[in-house]
Formats: sequence, structure tokens, C-alpha cells
Amino acid sequence: MKESILVRGGRPLLGSVEVQGSKNSALPILAACVLADGVSVIENCPDLLDTAAMLDILEYIGCGVERSGHTVTVDSTDIKRTDVPDGLMHRLRSSIVLLGALLARTGRASMSGPGGCELGQRPIDLHLAGLNALGARARECGGVIKADCGSRRGGEFVLSFPSVGATENLMLFGTCCRDGVTIVNAAREPEICDLAEYMNSAGFDVRGAGSAVVHIGSGKRPERLVSHRIIADRIAAVTWLCAVAVAGGEAELIGAERGHFSCVADLLEASGCRMEKTENGLFVRSCGRLSGGKGMIRTGPYPCFPTDAQPLVSTVMTTARGCTLIEENMFENRYSHLGELSGMGADIELNGRFALIRGVDTLCGRTVRTHDLRGGAALVTAGLCALGETRVLNIGYIDRGYESIEKTLESLGADIERVTEENEDTEKR
Ligand code: EPZ
Repeated sequence: MKESILVRGGRPLLGSVEVQGSKNSALPILAACVLADGVSVIENCPDLLDTAAMLDILEYIGCGVERSGHTVTVDSTDIKRTDVPDGLMHRLRSSIVLLGALLARTGRASMSGPGGCELGQRPIDLHLAGLNALGARARECGGVIKADCGSRRGGEFVLSFPSVGATENLMLFGTCCRDGVTIVNAAREPEICDLAEYMNSAGFDVRGAGSAVVHIGSGKRPERLVSHRIIADRIAAVTWLCAVAVAGGEAELIGAERGHFSCVADLLEASGCRMEKTENGLFVRSCGRLSGGKGMIRTGPYPCFPTDAQPLVSTVMTTARGCTLIEENMFENRYSHLGELSGMGADIELNGRFALIRGVDTLCGRTVRTHDLRGGAALVTAGLCALGETRVLNIGYIDRGYESIEKTLESLGADIERVTEENEDTEKR
């Protein structure tokens, strides 16, 4: 049965919401559990299609896996398999991080390329180049990756681009390298720091996470029992910020760390939102029409403006006063939501990496289609301020990264529900 989300716009939001655990932290940390050779208790692990897919992979290779609410227990004492079948690999992008984990733990791995939102090419050349430079033998042929840990010599590797996934893969592989590993031009996202924190509590030796140079020492013995609490999801927090910004009203985002998305918070404040840190997170209020054009939005590696926030902020700017210019530098195909927003009455000019958004008075609800995770969330957010009803199709993408987006927004007072598509013709649109 196909499902869609129905939003009736016009209601301001009011209340407080617990920000879910970070998807992009949980996924590499679950993969890192393979290194632990014991039991890992992961708290605040979001219950998503992507984390379920990662847990299915861990079970397939031989881990014991148990979920109780937001606490996941992974027992990686007995790894039985080093291959990951296509059907599991293709369900998410982060499956590729199992390459480094399996090589470090078992010395070999075979898998197809990963899945993930279609935001562009999304190659894995940096992952393979780094692993091979550190002594592994990893080859991709016809979409199949075969690898062994080779000499495991370790050493220094300079990433030509601070890829998040490649940094994670090299951190995990680095734990088995004889001479330790130094990753130069490493990704600096908060999720990298969270992974390092888990790895250190598991008995490994990771230093410099959050900076451009990360060092993984050799020789530490993993602990038999590890526990770790996942950080709050900064992009989910940005999503609820943007929801309040477009719908108006106020909310407290419990667990939100403003420092993890300060570029976005600063821009929304400059546009007219009021924010203040609270004891438990971040309070946001938006009343009256926002002003766009408060500086160009250029996405880039952390701590630049996060690409994952671009779709959400685009939605905010469609009804803000003035013009806003966006430059999307991280992915070559991350504007799919703009076509749908234009269909709702937004005034958007697209030219390659650049999008110029001229604020209109209001959007009009209609049936729109999701093409990727954050683009889908942007369309739901647009429905909150559009006149009439907005039906968002293809919401499986959204469920990959949000625990019931409609229930969260409904708890803030939105008129929103998930509906099952009985009649097929809705799909033909
Ligand atoms: C992670 O993806 C996140 N996903 C993405 O969030 C996020 O948008 C992205 O980092 C950038 O910050 C997870 O953590 C699960 P990259 P990842 O490797 O690791 C190019 C979401 O919505 N590249 O930093 O795949 C690549 O094509 C998702 O939660 C290579 O060229 O991103 C892209 O242009 C979407 N070769 C750029 O680097 C490689 O070997 C950034 O990719 C690897 C990447």
C-alpha cells in the first residue's frame, strides 16, 4: 500500500519537541560496533528505515541485535560473514562504511556499491583510494567491491575532499593498521566527533576528530562492553526550526545543539526568527513575514552551510520577503524539490548550481512528489504554510530519516496526517 502525507496549511505551530537521535551519527556508529568484539549498548538511536536497514546488515553478518525503544544492543562477538548482499547494501548510503569495519575486524569484505538518495553521482573513489593507500587491497569491478586488509601498514592519507563517509571508513579501517593512521583534510562534522567518542569508549585511540587532522592509534584493545548515547540530529532540529519559520508560532526543540547548525540558525535569526538557548535545547519563535536575502546561501563541508539544510531553508525563502540566492556545492542533483515548490506557486530560477528564490505572498497546496529525503521534508514543510491541502507522495524517502515526521508536526499543532493511497490514480500524477 502506498502512503502519502496530507497537510492543511495555515496553522501556527506551538509546543515542544524532543529532537531525535542523529541518523548520520547512528549509522556509522552501528557499523563501528562490528569492531567492538563484544556488546555495545547504543542509546538515543533513532528508529528509522535507514537504521533498521543497518541493523539488518549487522544481523546478516552474525551480530546479535536487539532494539528496546531508542536503545539498541549489538553483540558483535561472533562475526560469521564478510559479504553484504546487494539487497541490503542498496537500502542506504552508509552501508559502505561496513567496508572499513569488516576489513578491520575480519581482514576481508565483499559488497556491492551503496544506495542512498539520488543526489548525484555519489562515487566511492575516495573511500577506495584511502583504504588502498593505507595497505588494504580494495577493488570495485562491475559494481562489486572485493577487498582484503593487505599489509594494513597504515600511515598518512590526504583526502582530496573532506568526504564524511570516506573519513568514517578510514577511521574504522585505521583501528587495524600497524603504524596507526593519520587522515588529513578529514570531514569535521559533529557526527565524526560522535563516532570518535564511541570508538574511544570501545577502547580504540582516536584523536583530533572535529579538526582537519584525525589520528587513529594502533594497538589499543577493544572493551568487551561499550555504551554510548547518540547526539541529537542537527538536520531534524533544522527541519523543526524551518517548520516554525514558515508556519509561524513558537516551539522548544529539546536536545537541539545550536552550535551544530549555527550557520542555519544565524540565517533564520537574520531573517526574523527569534531564538534563545534554553536549559534543555533551543527556543524559536516566528511571527510576521520573514525577510529573505540575508546573505547568499553557499553549501559546503562543515562548518559551512550544511547541504542537508538547503532544501528546508529553500522552502522558508519561498515566502520570505525579497530574493535569496543559493549555491549548492556538495551535490550535483539536490534541487529536485524546487520544481515541486514552483508547482505550488514559488518563484524560483534555476541555473546549474545556483537557485534564485523570489519570495511570494503565499504558496498554494497541491499534490507533490518527493525525490529524496530532505527534499521530501521540505515539501511537507511547505504544506504547513500553503493555502489549502498539500498531498506529499513517495514518502518512503522521508521515513528513511525522520521518525514519523507527521506525528512530530501534529504534536506542534499542525493539521497533518499520513494516509494510505487506496486509488492508484493518485500515483499517476
Ligand atoms: C554524508 O553523506 C551524509 N550521509 C549526507 O546526508 C550529507 O549530505 C553528506 O555527508 C555531506 O555532508 C550520511 O552521513 C549517511 P560525502 P556522504 O562523502 O558521506 C563526493 C542526509 O540527507 N564524494 O561527504 O555520502 C560526493 O559525491 C544525507 O542525511 C566523492 O566524490 O557524503 C559529494 O559530492 C544526504 N567521492 C561530496 O563528495 C567519494 O568517494 C560529499 O560527499 C565520496 C564522496
